[in-house]
Amino acid sequence: MKLVKLIANLGYGSRKQVQWLFREGRVTDAEGEVLYADDQVAHEAIRVDGEPLDAPVGLTIALHKPRGVTCSTKDKGRLVYDLLPPRYRDRDPVLSTVGRLDRDTSGLLLLTDDGGLLHRIISPKAKLPKVYEVELAEDLRGDEAGQFASGALMLEAEKTPLLPAELTVHAPRSATLVLHEGRYHQVRRMFAAVGNHVDALHRSRVGGLGLQGLEEGQWRPLDATDLDTLFAP
Ligand code: URA
Repeated sequence: MKLVKLIANLGYGSRKQVQWLFREGRVTDAEGEVLYADDQVAHEAIRVDGEPLDAPVGLTIALHKPRGVTCSTKDKGRLVYDLLPPRYRDRDPVLSTVGRLDRDTSGLLLLTDDGGLLHRIISPKAKLPKVYEVELAEDLRGDEAGQFASGALMLEAEKTPLLPAELTVHAPRSATLVLHEGRYHQVRRMFAAVGNHVDALHRSRVGGLGLQGLEEGQWRPLDATDLDTLFAP
């Protein structure tokens, strides 16, 4: 791929804007030699204003999403993309969230520009466990774990029952819930279906991958070993 397209696709600007970077001599190799728009150079050898290029296509990241931040490119208010380098929202292919977490849910959120990988993670066939820590407004009654595990629980306006899910109760209003699918507002709607209300929700794990020390608002790129961990819960 020509350099101008490669750099524009990483969100450095429109092709026209990136052409100007070349004209101004701001695109160089590692030794500072000026590069030209038609050059074909290894990604790791390219510098813009002396800085290495952003990660190439095939980028997957883990973000510790705080509460109050939306999984969207253009909603009002704070967006998950505001926590990433600004260029990341302008990449082509798009860096998409892998499913969503509600605005008021915190925890592990994956983003990827790899459509195949995205589908492998969210596919109902993969049944990758997603682990949620839940704080409730009311004491648990005691029958919730059985209902969630039954494979028969229907949510309002849904046509098929939920897959069995595992609930572990830690205290009357505190529990861990493991899901193997991802329906809209699923955790909140499950507890509403058993007469309770979720006060606080946090996702601690997707597949075999946890937050591994990421603080709220922090992110890191995932490598091949992380992806193996993700698919080997
Ligand atoms: N279930 C919910 O209700 N909200 C989330 O953000 C994720 C799962």
